This record gives sequence, C-alpha cells and structure tokens, in this order.
Amino acid sequence: MIIYQEHMQNITEASFADGFFDGWPNPPSTATFERILQNATHIILAIDEHTHHVVGFITALSDRVLTAYIPLLEVVPSYQNRGIGKELTRRMLDKLQDIYMIDLLCDTDLQDFYAGLGMRKATGMLIRNYEHQSGKKG
Ligand SMILES: CC(C)(COP(=O)(O)OP(=O)(O)OC[C@H]1O[C@@H](n2cnc3c(N)ncnc32)[C@H](O)[C@@H]1OP(=O)(O)O)[C@@H](O)C(=O)NCCC(=O)NCCS
Repeated sequence: MIIYQEHMQNITEASFADGFFDGWPNPPSTATFERILQNATHIILAIDEHTHHVVGFITALSDRVLTAYIPLLEVVPSYQNRGIGKELTRRMLDKLQDIYMIDLLCDTDLQDFYAGLGMRKATGMLIRNYEHQSGKKG
C-alpha cells in the first residue's frame, strides 16, 4: 500500500527508490534531491509501506498569500500507472485550494492528465540554464 506524507521526518538518502529524475542527462544527486524537498514550501511524498521507499513526490513553491507554482511531480517508472501521480496532484491542489493562482508547466501530452484534475490549459514562458540541471551548490 502507498502512504502519503507531507514532511521529511524519517526520510534519509537511503529512503529514495531508484529511478527519480528519469531521462535527465545531469540529474540532481540524492543529497541535492533531499535539499530540494527540504526547501520547497509544500511537499507530498508517496511511500511504499512495505519497503519504506519514497516512490513518488510533488513539490509546490508559494508566497502563501496569492500564488503557488508546482515545479516537480514524479513517480518512479516501476510504480507508474497505479494512480499515484493523480493522488499526489489531487492532494497538492487540495492543500493549495485557498490560493488564487496555481501554475505549472508541462508538455502538451500531459495536459489531459492535469485537465482531468481540474486544471486548464494555458501558455507560458521559461528559461532552462542547463549547466545547473543537477542543482545549485548548497
Ligand atoms: C506524469 C506522472 C507523474 C504520472 O504518474 P502516474 O503515477 O503514472 O500517474 P497515474 O497512475 O495517477 O495516472 C496515469 C495516467 O497518466 C497518463 N500519463 C502518464 N504519463 C503521461 C505522459 N507522459 N503523457 C500523457 N499521459 C501520461 C497515463 O496515460 C494515465 O492516463 P489514464 O488515467 O487516462 O489511463 C509519471 O508518468 C511521471 O513521473 N512521469 C515523468 C515525470 C513527469 O513527466 N512529471 C510531470 C512533470 S509536469
């Protein structure tokens, strides 16, 4: 069974299942991944109750007044298509329900995934500094 937790208590580098940042040429290290989760305004972790491994996560950055941005959602490949990604997103949108602006960027093939969770399509702009893909030094 998958359990969901909104904090980093009892999470160590050994807690993360293999397979995060799938397809990233220069992914963050596990230590940097921990820092990302610690620094985010809100996190929700999906944890396999049997292995105690984190198998999915979602983060949000917010001013806690008007705006929030959801930069990262991922479920490791071996746990995909079991409803975990939808549950993580549902829970995060629920946490942010008193916030006016909730934004995220995604590829067009994922727009229906988010539309099914109540979001609507929009256009956006971005910059990617690829030399920092593994994370800013702490
Ligand atoms: C997107 C992601 C989080 C979904 O997690 P998941 O646990 O597999 O999702 P669920 O099981 O809750 O939902 C599966 C649904 O998402 C759809 N889906 C998953 N990945 C998709 C993709 N890349 N393109 C289109 N649809 C996708 C599946 O087709 C399925 O649709 P259905 O319910 O109509 O059958 C997961 O595929 C993932 O981690 N992908 C890599 C990272 C990523 O793209 N993150 C999103 C950043 S915006």
